[in-house]
Amino acid sequence: MEVIIQPDAKSATRLVARLIAKELRLKPSLTLGLATGRTMEGVYAELAVIHREEKLDFSLCRTFNLDEYVGLASDNPGSYRHFMNKHLFSRINIDPRNTHVPDGLSKNLAAECEAYEALIRECGGIDLQLLGIGIAGHIGFNEPLSALRSRTREKALSPATIRQNAGLFGSAERMPKRGITMGVGTILDSRSCLLLATGSAKAEIVAKAVEGPVTAMVSASALQLHARCRAVVDEEAGRLLQGQEYYRWIFGNEPEWAEFRQAEPARASLQATD
Ligand code: F6R
Repeated sequence: MEVIIQPDAKSATRLVARLIAKELRLKPSLTLGLATGRTMEGVYAELAVIHREEKLDFSLCRTFNLDEYVGLASDNPGSYRHFMNKHLFSRINIDPRNTHVPDGLSKNLAAECEAYEALIRECGGIDLQLLGIGIAGHIGFNEPLSALRSRTREKALSPATIRQNAGLFGSAERMPKRGITMGVGTILDSRSCLLLATGSAKAEIVAKAVEGPVTAMVSASALQLHARCRAVVDEEAGRLLQGQEYYRWIFGNEPEWAEFRQAEPARASLQATD
């Protein structure tokens, strides 16, 4: 895994958006794996700005979201489909038919999960999978003890996840207790992974996932098995990492990062929407 430490959440978020934009320019028909959550809001806001101001083209891009709550309709403000439409899809020139989020209302969830996997395969697999990390180490809804080879399936949410996301539903009681999620194995099949974590609350789990042992107790630790995984963290989320000096050296010296090293000028338009 390659770890990049940025001074603050804004620069970490911008870097992730820049990395996605670069891959999309290199391959306009990119198949992008997407995540939801507070951390991703800034990434999508930045991608919308790059689309608007630099004409980043999503017209040939296909997307697959990691997960969705079971029992929520797509127009429910708590659903991940709603989140994606609001934060990204409505702000860029993507064809809605090219965007995929598991259907949490499916009458046959097992069939829905199988069909989701089949569709990913038919599209040639995921080129770039964007990931956040939950405070108990989940990626998607792969809660602790998710099999490292798991595929898309229905999953009971852990108490930690319910606590983490309950605020978005007003209370834990109102929050769905099950989700559909790509498996850890599905995520590991992507050609590259890009994890973003910001804020002090993520510091402990980031250290476990990146430098701890690979264990099903911390699903994100499975990313250590991925041949091309980059983790971008801000100072706060990276503060417990033992290899900080080395990670900083990599970003400061390796040629592949040269184009991302210069601080970008603040953009009035982005600040206005923050
Ligand atoms: C959601 C997802 C989750 C989140 C994680 C972090 O699609 O994949 O793994 O990335 O729960 O959420 P935030 O960013 O809200 O802390």
